[in-house]
Amino acid sequence: MRNFISVQDVDNIKDLVAKALSYKADPLKDKSLGAHKRIGLLFLNPSMRTRLSTQIAAQNLGMEAIVFNVGQEGWALEFEEEAIMSGSTVEHVKDAAPIMGKYFDILAIRTFPSLKNREDDYSELFIKQFIKYAGIPVVSLESATLHPLQSLTDVITINEILASQQAIPKRPKIVLTWAPHVKPLPQCVANSFSQWINAWGQADFVITHPEDYELDTQFTNGATITHNQDEALKGADFVYVKNWSTFNNEYGRIYTNDPAWMLTNQKLALTNNAKVMHCLPVRRNVELSDEILDGPNSIVTQEASNRVWAAQAVLSEILKANY
Ligand code: CP
Repeated sequence: MRNFISVQDVDNIKDLVAKALSYKADPLKDKSLGAHKRIGLLFLNPSMRTRLSTQIAAQNLGMEAIVFNVGQEGWALEFEEEAIMSGSTVEHVKDAAPIMGKYFDILAIRTFPSLKNREDDYSELFIKQFIKYAGIPVVSLESATLHPLQSLTDVITINEILASQQAIPKRPKIVLTWAPHVKPLPQCVANSFSQWINAWGQADFVITHPEDYELDTQFTNGATITHNQDEALKGADFVYVKNWSTFNNEYGRIYTNDPAWMLTNQKLALTNNAKVMHCLPVRRNVELSDEILDGPNSIVTQEASNRVWAAQAVLSEILKANY
């Protein structure tokens, strides 16, 4: 593996999941693999889970991890080629990234979309420019359109539950449901979850959302899509809850915020006693109810804790392939 930007960078999802679970069983088994190697974790946007879990993963492999909150503490970066930098940006990525490529052995970057211009966001210019100019492997810590470390974690967590709970069918029904939110959020977690569940191919996958919240079909093709949430939830073994803003028509908007779409115990009763997932952070009693988050079906803490093993498996693959 050279870069980790999407599921397309993974040769074999099953093997990567197995590797992650082997690190969960024995976190320090490769504690010398990254000795004398350094990873730069660049955050253009806020984070809790991604920042901490990736640092821990790097340290478990013996790497030094340096966090740089570029968005708050760095020079404002320019990403457009041939830009006339007379505005607010101070340093071009083609000047900054090669320097980072000398300081670090792996560069990991979090960027968010603007949600103003769909073509710009979906071009993934920021992450592509770092790949072009850094000269070292690049890991996405969430980009404008995808969140691959989160999605790998989600597939790991589903496999872990399937291995431990015989009552769940080996080919589970997985439902991704839209949920209300107070502000427009990126589509990246939903895009990425769809892409990974489709690529994993071991589930009956249903996506449900209100009208006008269709996601990009390049990620959802293969899933059954319905606007009827109750119908979608029937017999579900896993329910993945996430808000996203509009992709089609007026990009990055909230069209409806119907609170009836929030998952409650009454809705959960339609499922096959489904495990409930969310990437976090979550707006309680807007996006997900207290009764679900504090109830026995929520696996959000197990899911978030698995972020370490996903990151460790990916960094391990990159170290072995490139150093
Ligand atoms: N799920 C996730 O990426 O969390 P953070 O934004 O806190 O990193």
